[in-house]
Amino acid sequence: MTVAVSIKNLQKRYGNTEAVKNVSFSVNSGEIFGLLGPNGAGKTTTIRCLTTLAKPDAGEIMISGISAIANPRLARQKIGYVAQEVALDKMLTGREMLQLQADLYHLKPKFAQPRIEQLINALGLQEYADNKTGTYSGGIRKRLDLAAGLLHQPEVLVLDEPSVGLDIESRFIFWDFLRELKKAGTTVLITSHYLEEIDALADRLAIIDQGIIISEGSPNELKDKIGGDRITLRIREFTSENEANNAKNLLVSLPFVTEVIINKAQGNSLNLVVTQGNNLSKIETSLTSLNLPIFSMSQSRPSLDDVYLAATGRTLIDAELAAAGSRDLKAEKKQQMK
Ligand SMILES: Nc1ncnc2c1ncn2[C@@H]1O[C@H](COP(=O)(O)OP(=O)(O)OP(=O)(O)O)[C@@H](O)[C@H]1O
Ligand SMILES: [Mg+2]
Repeated sequence: MTVAVSIKNLQKRYGNTEAVKNVSFSVNSGEIFGLLGPNGAGKTTTIRCLTTLAKPDAGEIMISGISAIANPRLARQKIGYVAQEVALDKMLTGREMLQLQADLYHLKPKFAQPRIEQLINALGLQEYADNKTGTYSGGIRKRLDLAAGLLHQPEVLVLDEPSVGLDIESRFIFWDFLRELKKAGTTVLITSHYLEEIDALADRLAIIDQGIIISEGSPNELKDKIGGDRITLRIREFTSENEANNAKNLLVSLPFVTEVIINKAQGNSLNLVVTQGNNLSKIETSLTSLNLPIFSMSQSRPSLDDVYLAATGRTLIDAELAAAGSRDLKAEKKQQMK
């Protein structure tokens, strides 16, 4: 297996902010690799270093055997980049934008013209290509941006949160397009804070939290590693640290409970990891004996959110909320995750 992208001990700070503390992961040739993490985790900073737009303070970045730090110009030719924020010149048409991009890449017209038409068709941009980009919806703009990133037939396509702002239908079309690209041999590196997106698309992923990679592997490997089914219990908020510890100790003493995580950001939620032969009524009896009635209970196979929770003690959504510090966002995020 060849490695398309290898990042080792990457560090990048902005003033007092350690945006990337220590990031290492590698992307195999021909796979879709996901970099998953909450707002402010350091995804864009990592991607900007990889695409040579930011200079790392320390670390190593190799793209198909070429150092992005020692040889940025050569490394850039191997990468197509679809940025998180799209800055389009609103007065240009989509076709003109692609032409401009082709010129920036120094593509020969003989190659560029058919390539532009091919991408316009492949991304369903025919009816929009001659309209000014200022008239585009978010989804169309994203498709144009994707076309621009693919013009020079990069070995590695890097997408920073491509699904943000896309409606569900556009998102699915987008996913299919990425899968087709993969089939054609392109390596894809995608960042996201949507668990479902990474779970559905990625062959392997790394989870980033506060500038550090906390897990790397295939979605199944990561889920297997934390083992067992999950039970999520909603109870009232604990009145004291002592009460929380008592509940935790009592539950852990049950033979089929391997782990109890108190969801710190939501004091009224308990996440249990259980083995086969678990017994819900025994859990209920235990908590009732501590005067902690259960409001709701659900059982599921581990999700990537459980992987994140096991590593950090909070869910991805809660991490986002902490970053945003806003209750309004909570409703919006939950809506988006549905
Ligand atoms: N140019 C900059 N100047 C100062 N601080 C920055 C800069 N870019 C990023 N940061 C800070 O570095 C940290 C990581 O930011 P980054 O944009 O890499 O996160 P992210 O994972 O891409 O988040 P999001 O999901 O919101 O896009 C944040 O605390 C951010 O405020
Ligand atoms: Mg970002």
